[in-house]
Amino acid sequence: MKKVRKAIIPAAGYGTRSLPITKVIPKELFPIGGKPAIHYIVEEAAASGIEEVLMIVSRNKNLIVDYFDQSLELEAFLEKENKLHLMEEVKIPKIHIQYIRQPYANGLGGAVNLGKQFTNNEPVAVILPDDIFINNQQPGLKQLINTYETYQQSVVALKKMEEDQLKNYGVIKGKEIKEGLYEMTDIVEKPLYSAPSNLAVIGRYILEPAIFSFLEKQIAGTGMEIQLTDAIKNMLEVSKCYGVEIKGDRYDIGSEKDYIKIVNNFYNSSKLKT
Ligand code: G1P
Repeated sequence: MKKVRKAIIPAAGYGTRSLPITKVIPKELFPIGGKPAIHYIVEEAAASGIEEVLMIVSRNKNLIVDYFDQSLELEAFLEKENKLHLMEEVKIPKIHIQYIRQPYANGLGGAVNLGKQFTNNEPVAVILPDDIFINNQQPGLKQLINTYETYQQSVVALKKMEEDQLKNYGVIKGKEIKEGLYEMTDIVEKPLYSAPSNLAVIGRYILEPAIFSFLEKQIAGTGMEIQLTDAIKNMLEVSKCYGVEIKGDRYDIGSEKDYIKIVNNFYNSSKLKT
């Protein structure tokens, strides 16, 4: 049985929805409960059994690399100052992370395609760092991995959305084979009119390595970008793909409303210090 050990985290985008702050601060580093948003993403990967991560970054994302680096100077300082209790705070999730730079943002499909060598013919998870899942009984990605382990075919995460929201997402058409589990028959990126269903793709995927042969020849689609959705649609002609409705709350940190909501939820939770 094939296991999902690797994950690609595409974090090279310009964060245009959150400009102007994203000119200098990557949205992946927006603070939530004292930690940057991407910390929770890497934690979710580790808690789902992922062993190796490839982060796709760009020129102005060096702070992300710095954050996940061990800070020996800081640790030595905390030790010298007898502040060992703070050592816990600076710990990063135990997972192997490597980085690759995307020279220019040409779409999610273009970013994921940079992970072909890293994937090395294994199934791979793709985790979009805009989408944060908190307070789930089971991490969002783990829910997908469970389905992958049963069917051994690509799986995408789904959430039912209001009709006016569907134009912002990839939307699937599928046959419900079990409660919350769909066998996909079609997928459309950001449908402007007549979406095929109310099931939107939210930022978690498990992809079979065959996806790379479709990504390689994928031409630009919506927004003149190479879309992962289009490559999945083409892959559907030769292999099955499933969709799972993810249980739990999802926050899109590129939306100011969701960002404020998640920060408030942390504020109201016991995680807050003072
Ligand atoms: C991307 C994908 C889209 C998916 C969405 C989830 O869009 O292209 O299919 O539904 O993420 O957040 P983006 O939000 O990058 O425009």
